[in-house]
Amino acid sequence: MESHLKKLKDKALEEIKKITSFDELKKIETKYLGRKGELTEALKKLKDLAIEEKPKMGQLANEIKVEVEGFLSKVKFELQERTEEKASNVLDITLPGLKKPIGHLHPITLVQNELQDVFRQMGFMVIDGPEVESEYYNFEVLNIPKNHPARDMQDTFYLKDHDSWVMRTHTSNQQVRALEQYGSPLRAVFPGRVFRYEATDASHDTTFYQLEGLMVDENISISNLMAVLKAMLKAIFKRDLKVRLRPSYFPFVEPGLEIDASCAICDGNGCSVCKQTGWVEILGSGLVHPRVLEAVGLDSKKYSGFAFGLGLTRLAMMKYGINDIRLLLSGDKRFLDQF
Ligand code: PHE
Repeated sequence: MESHLKKLKDKALEEIKKITSFDELKKIETKYLGRKGELTEALKKLKDLAIEEKPKMGQLANEIKVEVEGFLSKVKFELQERTEEKASNVLDITLPGLKKPIGHLHPITLVQNELQDVFRQMGFMVIDGPEVESEYYNFEVLNIPKNHPARDMQDTFYLKDHDSWVMRTHTSNQQVRALEQYGSPLRAVFPGRVFRYEATDASHDTTFYQLEGLMVDENISISNLMAVLKAMLKAIFKRDLKVRLRPSYFPFVEPGLEIDASCAICDGNGCSVCKQTGWVEILGSGLVHPRVLEAVGLDSKKYSGFAFGLGLTRLAMMKYGINDIRLLLSGDKRFLDQF
């Protein structure tokens, strides 16, 4: 019995060594370990042995079975590896290609583009302007003289060694530049980056975006301003938001107004974005100050106009439910990939 078992083992291992395919593997497996396999049969015969021989032979037979099984699974694993290797060397031209990520527009640009479209449809030009600006266009011509306390409303970055030049604190510089170039009548919006020496927190950053609007003609009133703003909000939020006016002060408009929209995130019910008030301040505005009109040579008795400075960054935050302004310019891909 012992030599029969050992021979069986040697024969099995010899045959397993020669296996080159899964078919052969299956056959050899059945030949030795199947229901009627040679090794199975040998194991069955153990019961006929004399009682003293049983434990020794039983142990040997089991060891042989484990060894043969182990060798078979080793060969099977090698076969699998070889097949996978072969598969990866085959070029399957019917497989879909790998998609290259190509990037997309920033949420602020998305909102800016949308706004520009709305205003173009209402006959407004879209005009770009300088981010480094003279004090004259940023302040003086806007009725904010050098030592006027209104300068304190905007913490300004001055250029080193060029202290009459600033990083523009608002897009209102463009009002005068455009009026000088085009005169009246004029309808234009001026989107762009602005800079303030702010202590940063969830709602303040040193760099943010505004969109300035200006309409100058004969007989322009606050009603025109309201109509334009409501049309804009409807186009952005796809529904009518409520608008409320509060008197405010900006030296380059008279009267000055601050405009709030009902919070688009909670529909005016109160949430953390609107600080539970139901309203979000979206822009400063008013009727262009006669001094500004006179500064560009327009007769302020004949012409009037409205101007507004919209917080583009704030509008994007409201539209997309972003609760921290610092995320927008962080360059964090995990944030940006959501738009
Ligand atoms: N420039 C003002 C600001 O940045 C906003 C404003 C623009 C107010 C136009 C009135 C008219 O705060």
